[in-house]
Amino acid sequence: MQEIDINWDTLERLRNRFLDTAKPAGVYWQSEEDLAHYHHTFAARIGWKWDNALAEANQAGFQLQARRILDWGCGSGIATLRVLAHFGPDAIDEVLLWDHSLAACRFAKKTIRDAYPNLKVEIAAAPSTADTDTLVLVSHALTELSQDTQDALAKQISSAAQILVVEPGDYSASRKLIALRETLRTDFHIAAPCTQCEACPMLTVENGRHWCHFFGKPPVEAFTESFWARFAQLMEIDLRSLPYSFLAVQNKTLSPPHPSQFTIHPSAASRLIGRPRQFKGYTRLLSCDSAGIRDLELQKRDDKQLWKALKKGPASTLFQWTEIEDPTARLKSGRPL
Ligand SMILES: C[S@@+](CC[C@H](N)C(=O)[O-])C[C@H]1O[C@@H](n2cnc3c(N)ncnc32)[C@H](O)[C@@H]1O
Repeated sequence: MQEIDINWDTLERLRNRFLDTAKPAGVYWQSEEDLAHYHHTFAARIGWKWDNALAEANQAGFQLQARRILDWGCGSGIATLRVLAHFGPDAIDEVLLWDHSLAACRFAKKTIRDAYPNLKVEIAAAPSTADTDTLVLVSHALTELSQDTQDALAKQISSAAQILVVEPGDYSASRKLIALRETLRTDFHIAAPCTQCEACPMLTVENGRHWCHFFGKPPVEAFTESFWARFAQLMEIDLRSLPYSFLAVQNKTLSPPHPSQFTIHPSAASRLIGRPRQFKGYTRLLSCDSAGIRDLELQKRDDKQLWKALKKGPASTLFQWTEIEDPTARLKSGRPL
């Protein structure tokens, strides 16, 4: 897939930088080449996560209601590119890019303009308050922010129309995202992944070991192209697994999704967290909904169809549990939505 000769040393340096979360990241893009190599590899994989997150958000009733995009911590611009591909370029009038690396902003601007020559793409002069007609995108940036910077970001985006965040699927990224969710939920309706807008049940002491994460489906090329096999081997990344966390919210001043958009209302649905664990004759799974976080057990004989769907890896992580036997938390039946 790549149109450039990948410099694997550059990728390794960047990868080490991303993994070293103990130190403040600082500005690490050293050149346009850094961004080009990143864009064709790590960013492409982040793009796969965006495709999955956008599909989940859509299913939960998230529809574009803004005409401008602000891509915060834009890097090479992959989040904007995936969002434009998802909603169509005609849905957006203008893209504003912000990154503390000017090289990143310039690279993203060029990449987006090359793909969408008629779209207005500007670089923000400084981190500024998002306007009320703006969809804010944050992609794999939270993990690089100090608490103070994350707090400042939350303030800057608090008047935005909508916000989409996609981050890695590990514990610390998910916990940072949950903290952002808690800050935003006074002013924003949470469309996904939550099926309710109250306090996140992950924050109770007994749920402290869990984190809100999902596994996306990588595209076929991740399995068929020799380039991706080489990338996986050299970067020691298992491309079959695409863990991510995400958040899709919209300002409470906007009209909520119409009930006709749903097969069942989200508040009656449950979100499957992580991966179901398979055992002989039964499956255990972590479910999140208005009842909180529950570790449910499904016997194969109770609902073979649901058991199969969970084993196969469902297309979406939204489910309706139709019967749960309490207090054993034994799931008797349900269906993917
Ligand atoms: C891992 S990269 C992700 C880039 C891009 N959003 C993506 O998903 O590919 C993190 C980006 O956040 C930017 N960044 C980190 N801290 C920042 C800050 N305090 N202000 C603005 N940008 C920041 C970095 O320069 C980098 O481009």
